[in-house]
Amino acid sequence: MASQELENILDHYRNPRNYGELADADIRVKDSNPLCGDVVEMHIKVRDGVVEDIRFKGKGCAISQASASMLTERVRGKRLEEVKDIDRQYILNMLGIELSPVRLKCALLSLKVLKTGVYTYLGEKLKLED
Ligand code: FES
Repeated sequence: MASQELENILDHYRNPRNYGELADADIRVKDSNPLCGDVVEMHIKVRDGVVEDIRFKGKGCAISQASASMLTERVRGKRLEEVKDIDRQYILNMLGIELSPVRLKCALLSLKVLKTGVYTYLGEKLKLED
């Protein structure tokens, strides 16, 4: 069984990376899992189309919060265009464990939040440039 991956998930849950807020964030986005009400909020600072800095906060189960913590580590320094390409398989590989459909919702909450924020930001940018 994937005990090392489970340990890693629990470590991120207990010691979340990039936890908190960014006062000068360009992107602020928050969403919840309708099944349980667990919440993830992300703050992102963008510079030249790149995630310069990112923080998250939230409350909920180990999978949803660990997934958010891991994702913030991975997207720092990425171009927003790359972030748009992150998919469910990326999250599954990142977590490295088998997930039931309910747990999959937990795992994907942070990705939903991240992508909603990035798309909204890019949409606003496009409108501004029109
Ligand atoms: Fe709520 Fe996992 S139980 S997100």
